[in-house]
Amino acid sequence: MLSGILVLPTQAAADEAAAREPAEVYRQVCAHCHAPDKAVGPEITMAFPEAAHESWRAYIETTVRHGRAAMPSFRPAKISDAELKALSAALARGELAEDDGGEE
Ligand code: HEC
Repeated sequence: MLSGILVLPTQAAADEAAAREPAEVYRQVCAHCHAPDKAVGPEITMAFPEAAHESWRAYIETTVRHGRAAMPSFRPAKISDAELKALSAALARGELAEDDGGEE
């Protein structure tokens, strides 16, 4: 019954109230490893075709919550569920590809 992707409306509303923009989360939490000039982690900001969004987003969200090899995991206290969903959507759409002000 309880699954990781179930978000109760009240919880979602609370999350959204304090949610940071995807570009801000990316800059604060991901960029210092994933930015091309850091190259600790692979590039993750390239746009994906629409048909691949669902699986790429699920992969991002799983990677962030559980970590992957040298990449640490991040708990909801660090990135809320709402922020993670918005982040994975923005990443899949390629919105953070040139992350200097969130240009599309
Ligand atoms: C401490 C450095 C570090 C931070 C911070 C970090 N990552 Fe990573 N990430 C890595 C490394 C290293 C890998 C490669 C892991 C491996 O060897 O498979 C990786 C892999 C990934 C992958 C898999 C990419 C692929 O092509 O398979 C995704 C997706 C990802 N990270 C997303 C994120 C997101 C989103 C954030 C911010 C919320 C983040 N990472 C923060 C280091 C980091």
